Amino acid sequence: MSDKIKFTVDGQEGLAEPGQTIYEAAKANGIYIPVLCHFEGLKPVGSCRICSVKSNGRWMASCTQPVTQGMIIENMTPEVEEYRKALIEMLFVEGNHFCPACEKSGNCELQALAYRYQIMVPRFPYLFPKREIEAFPKFLLEHNRCVQCQRCVRGVQTEDGQKIFALHERSNNLRINVDRQLATEMSNEQVQQAMDICPVGAILKKEAGFRIPIGKRKFDYRPIGSEIEEKE
Ligand code: FES
Repeated sequence: MSDKIKFTVDGQEGLAEPGQTIYEAAKANGIYIPVLCHFEGLKPVGSCRICSVKSNGRWMASCTQPVTQGMIIENMTPEVEEYRKALIEMLFVEGNHFCPACEKSGNCELQALAYRYQIMVPRFPYLFPKREIEAFPKFLLEHNRCVQCQRCVRGVQTEDGQKIFALHERSNNLRINVDRQLATEMSNEQVQQAMDICPVGAILKKEAGFRIPIGKRKFDYRPIGSEIEEKE
């Protein structure tokens, strides 16, 4: 007997491997669920909730929730989509995101999600927090744009496994802290990896921001999610 797990997303049937999360199973079946704090290959933490879906009346983060036999999942329903849209708007108002002046424009997942969800003006008031820009020998850390996804915390380490980025403080004061000594010792490849792993323009490798001009970048050609939705 097959040990595959049967599930449906918005009425579309799919098969999953045991242990797969809802997000992984949906993706393997050509179904797009938006994510932000999740990054392929990193342990998911379920912090941003952009990947939220509903099943059996319950909200859950699809990047951490395992898919179970017979699960019926709501993904692109108006209610779920509106929920995600509100979360994206909150991210815009709680930081300082000025896309036209950002080096990551066109490669930014938050900006790409805003386009996908057709966000013009957030429904929430802007907080305009006072945040700083920190400079390190090979990169800048732009706290105004950080969405605290922790992708850099989970994905960037020294060769002997020491974390270079860490979370500091809580709630509104939550911010990314960098080990200055380890940051100084980072190789060019590690800095590039840190910049690539960041979904927004918070980690910027020096002299690399505009190497690929705006207009020729990833999401300038293809909307976010199209790589999954067009596969089928
Ligand atoms: Fe699942 Fe952020 S992508 S909670």
